[in-house]
Amino acid sequence: MGRVGQKLPLSSLFMLLLVLSSTWCPLPVHGWFEIYFDLITVYVMNDLAPYTTLNLHCKSKDDDLGEHKLAHGQNFNWTFHINFWQTTLYWCSMWWYDSNGQVVQGTFDIYKARRDYARKCRSQCCWFIRKDGLYLGVYKGDAKLMFHWPK
Ligand SMILES: *[C@@H]1O[C@H](CO)[C@@H](O)[C@H](O)[C@H]1NC(C)=O
Repeated sequence: MGRVGQKLPLSSLFMLLLVLSSTWCPLPVHGWFEIYFDLITVYVMNDLAPYTTLNLHCKSKDDDLGEHKLAHGQNFNWTFHINFWQTTLYWCSMWWYDSNGQVVQGTFDIYKARRDYARKCRSQCCWFIRKDGLYLGVYKGDAKLMFHWPK
C-alpha cells in the first residue's frame, strides 16, 4: 500500500501545479496540501516598459539561480519549500536602463519566509518590477509597492 498510496497525493499536486502554471501568475490555492507541502513559487515579472530588458540574479545561501534577462512581460519563477527553521531567504539583484540610458539597480529580499508567510505568500508570490519600484501581489491589480529603487 505504502508506495502507491504515497505517490497519489504528490502526483495530483503536480497535476494541479501544471494546470495552475498555464497562467503566469496562478490564483492562490488554499487547501489541505498547503499545510503539509508548503510549496512556494515566486514569480518575478518584468513590468517595466516595452522594449526594456530586466536583468535579474536571484540567490539564496545554498542556491544560485543564475543570471536572467527578461523581456517586457516575461517572468522568472522558482519553487521551493520553506526550511525547517523558517529562515528561507532569497534575494535578487536587478538592473535595467531607463530612457536616459542610466542604469537603475537594486538588491532586494524577494522571499523571506516569516515576513512573506505573514503576507499570505504561501503558495504564490508575484513580484511586478516597475519603473517606480517592486510591487508584490497575488493579482496584478492588487499588487502593492514594497520597494523603491535606491536613489
Ligand atoms: C516560469 O519560468 C519559465 C522560464 O524559466 C517560463 O517558461 C514559464 O512560462 C514560467 N511560468 C509561468 C507560469 O509563467
